[in-house]
Amino acid sequence: MATRINPSILAADFANFERELGRIRTADLVHVDIMDNHFVPNLTFGLAMVQRLQQVSPLPLDIHLMIDDPDRWAPDYAEAGAYSVTFHAEAVADPVALARKLRSMGARAGIALKPGTAVEPYLELLPEFDQVLVMTVEPGFGGQSFMASTMPKLEMLSAAVRRTGLDVWLQVDGGITEQTIVAAAEAGADTFVAGSSVFGAADPAEQIARLRATAHS
Ligand code: DX5
Ligand code: ZN
Repeated sequence: MATRINPSILAADFANFERELGRIRTADLVHVDIMDNHFVPNLTFGLAMVQRLQQVSPLPLDIHLMIDDPDRWAPDYAEAGAYSVTFHAEAVADPVALARKLRSMGARAGIALKPGTAVEPYLELLPEFDQVLVMTVEPGFGGQSFMASTMPKLEMLSAAVRRTGLDVWLQVDGGITEQTIVAAAEAGADTFVAGSSVFGAADPAEQIARLRATAHS
């Protein structure tokens, strides 16, 4: 089973992104949290930053849009060359239309669900997406505790993926550590976003290897 580790640069040194990217070369993708202080009560960075990261990052970018009105912004991130663009289900009227738009631009399309958002309405839409992001904390901040209560959603998703044979990645984001990654993997996650546990480690590359080894141990 695939195990992708996507470090979140929300936990990196904001004054040294290029150097920080060099410390996580052994990861799979770089997770980039875009927050607008409306959809979530926190503000990070936007399109101009991503355009520049795209130029210097050795790894593809996995964009997580925690913003209102992703219809307005998501295509610009695809245009910038992002490998995947994930928007929140709670923020769009027509998720399928936006996913189709992103795919037509060559990006992988992802849909994210806050901990309180039910997964059932999205199961039949799985063919429209390349990844589903199950938030394992309330979006907005790094360093929060993993919510095991979200695992049944992953189990439903992974059963649906197996049933349909679709190649949809199942991503978890929030509170992923060597302790919590096992439960997420057992519930069916294959793509793990980790901020503090990677960038808080003395050697992020070693921590990436540890997380990868632990996930399916
Ligand atoms: C939270 C972000 C996460 C965050 C995870 O809203 O979407 O990507 O960086 O950070 P940790 O791994 O510290 O929980
Ligand atoms: Zn994120």
